[in-house]
Formats: sequence, C-alpha cells, structure tokens
Amino acid sequence: MSDTPLVGVVGAGTMGSGIAQVFAQKGCRVVLYDAVPSQLAKAQSTIQKNLNRDVEKQRVGVAERDQALANIQPGDRLDALKSAALVVEAVSEVFEVKQRVFAELDRVCDRATILATNTSSISVTQLAATTGRPDRVIGMHFMNPVPVMKLVEIIRGMGTSEETFAATQSFVEKLNKVPVAVNDSPGFVSNRVLMPMINEAIFCVYEAVGTPDAVDSVMKLGMNHPMGPLALADLIGLDVCLNIMETLYAGFGDPKYRACPLLKKMVAVGRLGRKSGEGFYRYSS
Ligand code: CAA
Repeated sequence: MSDTPLVGVVGAGTMGSGIAQVFAQKGCRVVLYDAVPSQLAKAQSTIQKNLNRDVEKQRVGVAERDQALANIQPGDRLDALKSAALVVEAVSEVFEVKQRVFAELDRVCDRATILATNTSSISVTQLAATTGRPDRVIGMHFMNPVPVMKLVEIIRGMGTSEETFAATQSFVEKLNKVPVAVNDSPGFVSNRVLMPMINEAIFCVYEAVGTPDAVDSVMKLGMNHPMGPLALADLIGLDVCLNIMETLYAGFGDPKYRACPLLKKMVAVGRLGRKSGEGFYRYSS
C-alpha cells in the first residue's frame, strides 16, 4: 500500500494476530492492542513463527518478513489508535465485551476512523448503535487461519454509509482477499450455514452415531471438505462455536439452532480445541 495507512487491531487472539499479520505484510503500520500483555507476546511469537515458515518455504523474502514484523507495534493503550484509518475489533464473541470496546474506540478515535468488527455472528447494526458514528461502523469477518483463507465477509449495518463500505472493500482487495457483501442477520451467511453443520456433527458424537474420527472421515472423504467438522470446531475454538450457536438461537428463536449439550459440557470443562490442547482431538504444544 502506497500511503502506509495506520490500522488498529483490537484483541491479540488467534484472529487478531492473523489480521495484524496480513495488514503488516501489505505495508500497513499496525498497532496490535490487547489489555493482557502475555496475549500480545503470544501473538507476536505466532506471527513470527508464521512468517519464518513462509521464509523457509520461499514464499516470503527475509527483508519482507523483517519489514512486516517491524510494521507491527504492540500496544496496551487504545489511544495509540487515535489516527488510524481503520480499526478492526477482534475481541471475544460476547456482545457486552464488544460494546465496551466500541464505546471506548468511538471516544478515542478520530471521527474519520472506520470501526470494523470481526464478529462472526453478532449484529453489526446493534454494535454500531452503541457509537456516535453508525455510518462508519461495518463488519469485516475474516476466516481462520487468516493468512491462508481468501474470504472476508463484509457486513453492512443498517446505518453503514456507502463510503465506509467502499473503503472497507478496497482494504480487503489490497490484502489480496475476496470481499463478499452480505446483510446483517445472525451469523451472516458463513456461520448460519457452517455452525449448524458443526453442531450436527457434535450431535452425531453425542448420540454415539459415530466417533469424531468417523464423522470427520465421512465429511472429508465423502464431501471433499479439507478438514472434518470436528477438527474444524477444534481449530475455530469450541467456546467460539458455542457463542455463535447461542447468538443464532437468540436471534432466530428457532430450536433448530440449539447448541448440542456435549458442546456446552466441553466448553464448561475448558476443552476448547487447539488453543487449550484438547477438544475432540488432543494436540501437543
Ligand atoms: N496460520 C498460518 N498458516 C497456516 C495455518 C495457520 N494457523 N494453518 C495452515 N497454514 C498454512 C500452512 O502454511 C500450509 O502451507 P505450507 O504447508 O505450504 O507451509 C497451508 O496452510 C496448508 O496447511 P497444512 O498442510 O498444515 O494443512 P492443510 O492442507 O490441511 O490446510 C487448512 C490447513 C488451510 C486449515 C485447511 O485444512 C482448511 O482450509 N481447512 C478449513 C478451514 C476453514 O474452513 N476455515 C474457516 C473457519 S470458519 C471461520 O473462521 C469463521 C468463523 O467465524 C468461525
């Protein structure tokens, strides 16, 4: 990108670190904010590992890697995002948490800053309503793993301006990703279709129709999915899957979106998938 815009990323978890990485690789200066310093350190080490792998595979040069790493500045104060052209929020998938972040961003950021949410299911319109700039709030939904996946779902809130939509679309294109515009509805398109499939796969295990391996093998070998739904749930995080199912259930009031009791139990005991070391499968560190 020619004029090195400043991009803020709020939340340095799996999605936030991936989002920071892809913007930094395209020459943006990135402030990666997280209130928890250990999370920031973990994100920096993940980004470094990803880029080192790209260098080893000769997809990225050493100078490009070093520049991308230098473009990311970790931050523990939201004020550092004041002059950002775009801020992407990627904190937990809980409305109250996002609402607090948006209120704070609205207070510290310039009037021109676009506030985007990487929410996977929460209403963009409702989040926008908690700010004084609903015209400059939009959904920018990246897929996991962010450096690999091409899609970014762009969600217009009811008050999102055409100018904000066009600017966001252009940011996505500069990342060499493909923007797909959808309207604001629980789960948008991606998770309205994906999560009920994952939830149904969990029901198959819960009702002993098949083992996790059997369920995943059916979907991989029979439907050509790159990974089975249970391995994918482990990658996404079972807590995130549960939050999305609960948003679909609350949003539509339809029992077809009820979360499987096994999913609830696994989240309650902290079996969250890859990030906790165990979900439907076990992972070594
Ligand atoms: N970060 C960065 N790069 C990664 C990565 C990660 N976490 N995981 C894999 N990659 C890269 C690797 O660099 C690898 O390339 P090289 O081997 O050449 O280095 C490449 O992806 C392929 O990885 P693997 O060989 O390890 O494994 P794979 O061929 O099975 O691919 C996968 C892995 C890309 C994750 C593939 O299995 C896949 O596409 N799975 C489906 C992912 C998906 O559906 N994502 C959407 C989830 S839904 C979502 O995110 C939205 C939401 O709101 C919940």
